[in-house]
Amino acid sequence: MKIIRAKDYNDMSRKAANIISAQVIIKPNCVLGLATGSTPIGTYAQLVDWYNKGDLDFSDVTTVNLDEYKGLPRDNDQSYYYFMNDNLFSKVNINLDRTFLPDGMEPDSDKACADYNKVIAETGGVDLQLLGLGHNGHIGFNEPGAIFEAETHCVTLTESTVKANQRFFASIDDVPKQAYTMGIKTIMQAKKILVVVSGEDKAKIVKEAFFGAITPQVQASVLQLHNDVILVADEAALSLVK
Ligand code: F6R
Repeated sequence: MKIIRAKDYNDMSRKAANIISAQVIIKPNCVLGLATGSTPIGTYAQLVDWYNKGDLDFSDVTTVNLDEYKGLPRDNDQSYYYFMNDNLFSKVNINLDRTFLPDGMEPDSDKACADYNKVIAETGGVDLQLLGLGHNGHIGFNEPGAIFEAETHCVTLTESTVKANQRFFASIDDVPKQAYTMGIKTIMQAKKILVVVSGEDKAKIVKEAFFGAITPQVQASVLQLHNDVILVADEAALSLVK
């Protein structure tokens, strides 16, 4: 694994955006695996900035996102589709027909997951997968557990996640209880993986995930078995790593 040490969140965002830009420049018709969450927001903003300056062209790029809530329509501002549209897709010249997320409005979980596996296979494979890191080591919605789930699957969110998300919804009943997520095998099949991490609150999990035992209890630890992973993290997130 290659570790790139950034000064702070902005520096991390710029460095990560540089790596994504390089991928788009080297292979204009590349497949990008994308993530939501707070960490990559600055990375997307930087990509938009370079696009506006004429330095980047997304017209031939295909994207597949890691995950989506089950039961949330695309126009709900908490859906991951909405997030991607808001932070990237609506701001660059990407072909929306080439942007994919699991279909959160498909009630049949088996169908939603099988359809998404097919979408990913039809892209020909992910060239560069962007990942954030959960405080418990999750990647996508692959939560600590006894096994590594291989492909797209439906996850029931823990009670604490549902409660934590309550602040974004009118009532607890409106909070999604399930999500569709890419599996670990799919993530590991990406040719290159870029993990972005920022903040002291992630320092402990960075150490565990990338320098500890490889175990489904810390799902990101499996990334130690991939031969082309770049971790771009700021000093705070790397503060427990020598
Ligand atoms: C996002 C995702 C999650 C986040 C992780 C970190 O699509 O799948 O695994 O990457 O929860 O989130 P932040 O960046 O908000 O700390």
